[in-house]
Amino acid sequence: MSASILAENVASPETPGSKFYPPFVPTAALEAEADQRLAQFPEDQKRSAVLPLLHFIQHHHGFISAEAIEWVAERLAIQPVKVLEVVTFYPGFRQSAPGKVHFRVCRTLSCAMGGSHELMEKLCELTGIDRSHADAHHHPVTVSPCGKWSVEFAECLASCGTAPVCLVNDDFHEAVTAEKAQGLLDQYADGHSSH
Ligand code: FES
Repeated sequence: MSASILAENVASPETPGSKFYPPFVPTAALEAEADQRLAQFPEDQKRSAVLPLLHFIQHHHGFISAEAIEWVAERLAIQPVKVLEVVTFYPGFRQSAPGKVHFRVCRTLSCAMGGSHELMEKLCELTGIDRSHADAHHHPVTVSPCGKWSVEFAECLASCGTAPVCLVNDDFHEAVTAEKAQGLLDQYADGHSSH
């Protein structure tokens, strides 16, 4: 897969949230992280480092770009399409920048019955997010015009007994009804959890 074909097959559009994330560049810190991760696997299983490397990149750069896919493929000595397969298989990997505060709202049965769709509607109403063009495959993440907030639906987050639940960045929140949406936004008013 050539660089141009890869670029054509990886979304990575600019979003209002892009300003909060540094563009992907293979820094010395990233190279050192890759060396450390690769050292944890036997010589003939280096490709198993693909998940930790992608998680590390997404944590620092917000999403997985075509450049990041190429770099990971080169470090693991595999074809870029193999990395792309991983990125597109796992819904947890993003191909465009989220907002500074990203909500993942569970939409599976217990949470749907508990009000997760109403929670999503309320979050969008309060943050000015327009989800009319969102879809589960190509555009799962929608960002507010200011770039601070973003939302996406997620599948079961393994806490069905406390539905509806959501992840805000890496924080887990239970029993979040639509009435609690404003309070949740207030917790992250400065871009980070206040708790
Ligand atoms: S259905 Fe939402 S956590 Fe399981």
